[in-house]
Amino acid sequence: MTYQGIIHRYGHLLDLPAHSKTISLLEGNTPLIPMPRLGKDLGCELYVKFEGLNPTGSFKDRGMTAAISEAVGRGAEIVICASTGNTAASAAAYAARAGVRAIVLIPEGKVAVGKLAGAVAYGAQVIQVQGSFDDALSLVVEITQKTPIALVNSINPFRIEGQKTSAFEICDDLSSAPDWLCLPVGNAGNITSYWAGFKQYQKGLPQVLGVQAKGAAPLVLGHPVDRPETIATAIRIGKPARGEQALSAAEESNGMIIAVSDEEILSAQKILAGEGIWVEPASAAGLAGLIAETGRGSVDTTGKRVVVVCTGHGLKDPSVITESFESPKVIPATYDALIGVIE
Ligand code: F0G
Repeated sequence: MTYQGIIHRYGHLLDLPAHSKTISLLEGNTPLIPMPRLGKDLGCELYVKFEGLNPTGSFKDRGMTAAISEAVGRGAEIVICASTGNTAASAAAYAARAGVRAIVLIPEGKVAVGKLAGAVAYGAQVIQVQGSFDDALSLVVEITQKTPIALVNSINPFRIEGQKTSAFEICDDLSSAPDWLCLPVGNAGNITSYWAGFKQYQKGLPQVLGVQAKGAAPLVLGHPVDRPETIATAIRIGKPARGEQALSAAEESNGMIIAVSDEEILSAQKILAGEGIWVEPASAAGLAGLIAETGRGSVDTTGKRVVVVCTGHGLKDPSVITESFESPKVIPATYDALIGVIE
């Protein structure tokens, strides 16, 4: 039978209420891409789990199919989320698919235009909040406590259920869990989901390397960050809702949560693009962390199987690239002109 999305494939392993009504865009089933060249440089067997190939360009679709299926099944007519962009696009798309309204709150002026365009295209009401992601999330919590509007941020437990499926897929592809899993950490829903997924699937447990950006690293600093700053807008979060669970995942797995600089993130983004995989900056944080920690010797992946999760597609945030290049050369439409400019 053709592929029908994560609830169809793994629903028997997900704790979703009986009233759920499956709303799917055939998310999941993303490729686990072998990276032999880069793996050789790092001395490990390396794979990228490319979550940017989900229907709205990020891993959020796995959790969103679950959260919207539950919300719509119990009769919700409006869903709401706070977002640094990807959750907004995903909530908007799945709400559209279900025929319900989506409202998304984004921090003013801090969301990549490609993500905003998605949310608008799918028909969501987009509202900019004067404040951070964390302020927007507080508003979402308040309004969903006072009205029947359904919350679809990752504090919604069904988001975590859906996002566990990426761990299942990795285990199915490799026949067991990898030795290390490296991924970016923002609001910490995804690291929580992977850890829950690996534990449930019982095909071994990876050590987990969670990676924050240095200017937005509350879990590394041990306290909230009031004004988080990083080029990786998707993880510009100062008070992760599932911070405690992220710390437990790192500790229980004998892994760690670390921070990398924006330069390290951009360099990892470039390295991935050099392998044909274009991701948005936040998505490159997992690889940046792996390179930094193996370089420092605090993580030894020699001969190990390592999966780097690339959470979102480069097209979501092209400005990082477009702002740094000169516009392409213009030439007359002649062979001589063409041969003359080829470097
Ligand atoms: N990578 C990307 C591309 C993201 O969009 C996010 C989160 C993360 C990593 C971090 O995942 O929050 O589960 O730890 N983006 C959220 C959003 C916050 O609103 O789209 P997390």
